Amino acid sequence: MKGIILAGGKGTRLYPMTKVISKQLLPIYDKPMIYYPLSVLMLAGIKEILLITSPSDIHQYRALLGTGEELGISIEYVIQQYPNGIAESFILGEDFIGNESVCLILGDNIFFGQDLVRELQKSSEIIEGAKIFGYPVKDPSSFGVVEFDSEYNVVSIEEKPLIPKSNYAVPGLYFYDNEVIKIAKSVRKSERGELEITSINNRYLELGKLVVVPLSRGIAWLDTGTPEGMLKAAEYVETIQSRQGLYIACLEEIAWRKKFISDELFRNLGQKLAMTDYGKYILTLLNES
Ligand code: DAU
Repeated sequence: MKGIILAGGKGTRLYPMTKVISKQLLPIYDKPMIYYPLSVLMLAGIKEILLITSPSDIHQYRALLGTGEELGISIEYVIQQYPNGIAESFILGEDFIGNESVCLILGDNIFFGQDLVRELQKSSEIIEGAKIFGYPVKDPSSFGVVEFDSEYNVVSIEEKPLIPKSNYAVPGLYFYDNEVIKIAKSVRKSERGELEITSINNRYLELGKLVVVPLSRGIAWLDTGTPEGMLKAAEYVETIQSRQGLYIACLEEIAWRKKFISDELFRNLGQKLAMTDYGKYILTLLNES
């Protein structure tokens, strides 16, 4: 399975913070936002990753993440000229995806929780159809929202409904078979002028090939769409990390635990950052093991 991180867009809702810097490069507590979705793909065991971003930001992402070699993974880059919509990812990523299935994660989505890893590993084995998730939120109207019938079968997914038919929002983490490329090409722009990911999901639903898995309440899906959301996400990460002494989205740690890199490479990465708590954490893990 291939992985795509979509990290373009103009970030206008976060101006002036994002006037000269890509939203997904802003920090969430002690690391760039993009680390969190990248950690999710790595936890799913996905090693071939495509990062899609805007022409003005691509250089910074390359400078931050490089080829991925240091983490024992491969990261390629593709430009999205204009934010035409999330579904465009599969058109821009066609060559990269090839004949495989694909997981898409939005660059501003943060997930954390033990059950998540099990769920990710299961989902990465998908060979047919589509798998998305449902997550209960207090105000779902700014998301894709799942509509259920009385027996909890999924009837439709609505994008940003004024009157949501449930409180189950669809987080920005999607697993698809290879058909998604063809389906993405057939999607028409919505009223707001975007190729909607929700249109892809509804197409899979029509084909009887959409599975919506409710995420358990033990999993955190955090919002980074507003300054308050970013602050709360940062506080969440700080709280967990300082309480447990274990890091969320330490990419080097995940690469090491997944055996993508050797002890020696892991030590080198830790030593390069030894002046920071992040680097000290890496070195401590090695000493403890
Ligand atoms: O976060 C989950 C939600 O993401 C889903 O529930 C919705 O169904 C889905 O449409 C999406 O809604 P948003 O309104 O939050 O999407 P937004 O336009 O903010 O874009 C999400 C991320 O994708 C953001 O980091 C920018 C990036 N993006 C977006 C578009 C439309 C791109 O890189 N290119 C694009 O063309």
